[in-house]
Amino acid sequence: MATRRLLGAKLCFDNGLQTAEAEAEYLLFHVLALPFEEARRYQNRQVTEEEAIKFLHLLEQRIQKRTPVHYLTNEAFFAGLRLYVDERVLIPRSRIELLIDDPEGLAELVPASGVKNILDLCTGSGCLAFALALLYPDARVDGSDLSADALAVAKINQQRLKLEGRVRLVQSDLFAGLQGRKYDLIVSNPPYVPRSTLAKLPTEFQREPALALDGGVDGLILVENILRQAVDHLTPHGCLICEVGDETEKILRNKYPGLFLEWLEFYFGGSGVFMIDRQGLWQGLGRESRLGMGVSK
Ligand SMILES: C[S@@+](CC[C@H](N)C(=O)[O-])C[C@H]1O[C@@H](n2cnc3c(N)ncnc32)[C@H](O)[C@@H]1O
Repeated sequence: MATRRLLGAKLCFDNGLQTAEAEAEYLLFHVLALPFEEARRYQNRQVTEEEAIKFLHLLEQRIQKRTPVHYLTNEAFFAGLRLYVDERVLIPRSRIELLIDDPEGLAELVPASGVKNILDLCTGSGCLAFALALLYPDARVDGSDLSADALAVAKINQQRLKLEGRVRLVQSDLFAGLQGRKYDLIVSNPPYVPRSTLAKLPTEFQREPALALDGGVDGLILVENILRQAVDHLTPHGCLICEVGDETEKILRNKYPGLFLEWLEFYFGGSGVFMIDRQGLWQGLGRESRLGMGVSK
């Protein structure tokens, strides 16, 4: 019945659990305080009247206000981590998670032996910073964001995961607050949605902070700045991994053909995530003089 109601309300599930059925089950298990992953084990669990009322209340909020399911429960799951989220941060769903989860992914592309310092630029909830800290247990991680609100959420996750000792949260407009710092690995999922696309996004996405999505006219405003400045913050063998999504990938490829970015492949056939090392970045900036201006060797 709940699934039918969600389907009938013509909601968008893209920044939630992808299907009406999964969202209905998830909300119910949240109310019952049972592990969602073990739903089958609890199929015959009786629901009290109080629980039913709570569940229906959540369902109504999901339908009437189009509030994404993760904001209703204040939790999201990323690379095996259970994170606190609210409307101050983007709901974690970066494709970089697939690289972190895959034993032949990031750990092979960037072996731990060469990684002592990592930056998660535009950290939001801190999802990437914390997942990277666990993937690279000997590394120190900086997670930076312009938004004090987002950093307040990241702080909650940092405390819950007991990662205060290894992850540092920094308020910074891209690299402005990271002067003199160099990293073996910079990972970023910056805002990259082109303005024209942003205006057409379903209400569920409008509930997320505009600062987390808005990539300027062509989606590249932050990405271009990252490409321009990252070279000064990478160690000689360091590399940058950056998500730009499928639409902005096409725009970036057409605008800067001389950058020779390595587009990482995912099982679903798409990419939207590129990788480039310091050397490649330096050479690419030379070829793309519009981007390279003012870069120091
Ligand atoms: C797409 S969200 C990514 C959040 C998180 N890394 C994730 O993958 O879920 C982009 C983040 O960039 C932050 N941001 C926007 N403009 C920024 C800037 N100029 N400097 C640093 N962070 C910025 C936003 O506050 C937001 O948290």
